[in-house]
Amino acid sequence: MRLAKYLADAGVASRRKAEKLIVDGRISINGALVSEPGRVIDPDLDIIEFDGQMLKPQNKIYLILNKPAGYLSSTYDPQGRPTVMDLLKGIQGRLYPVGRLDLDTRGLLLLSNDGEFTNKMIHPRYQVDKKYQALVKGRLSQKALRQLSRGVELEDGLTSGASVKVLELNLQSTLIEMVIHEGRKRQVKRMLAHVGFPVISLKRTALAFLVLGNLKEGEYRHLHPGEVKGLLDLAQSGVTGK
Ligand code: URA
Repeated sequence: MRLAKYLADAGVASRRKAEKLIVDGRISINGALVSEPGRVIDPDLDIIEFDGQMLKPQNKIYLILNKPAGYLSSTYDPQGRPTVMDLLKGIQGRLYPVGRLDLDTRGLLLLSNDGEFTNKMIHPRYQVDKKYQALVKGRLSQKALRQLSRGVELEDGLTSGASVKVLELNLQSTLIEMVIHEGRKRQVKRMLAHVGFPVISLKRTALAFLVLGNLKEGEYRHLHPGEVKGLLDLAQSGVTGK
């Protein structure tokens, strides 16, 4: 792992600021000061010190958050809009969202400081199932249901098929549950718009076996170790379902 990344993961500073700390000669590896930001270290073997203080490996944190609408799934917004980080009062350390939900999408979002976990969860080859509740404009037709279940040709290629269940058929809208297996940008909205039923509102309700349970909007909890292991096992096995 690159030294600057290790420092950022350990909560010392952002990666850019960590590079400056290295150049400024404030970081040592196994007792020797270093000055090259590109240095690679072995986090399991090397002893890293910052101003003479040994850095402890950071505890891994995994959170499940019920994201309200109006919060960005990012760590910072140049325009100053609220981000999901604003909801994590009381959590020490630098966390990152594991994947993204749109600004107006609500529901289940994972956050972690474990880069390897994040990469596995969002890697296109290892994606786990994601379940959404979508309110769409119009009365969803049988034809649209068939198209969705076969997969839809979007500008970035054919999606895999989605499982769709109608929960409520109203006069001018339909509430559906939709499970997708990939995680392309705005995938649910694009698939539904493509078949003629634009999304009015969207909520992610489950990720593999994880559900929101009694987490209210804006609330989060730590994942249990068994849940983290279960997600990693699913991702690694390439089996996306529950
Ligand atoms: N699909 C979307 O279109 N938006 C989201 O936020 C998540 C999935």
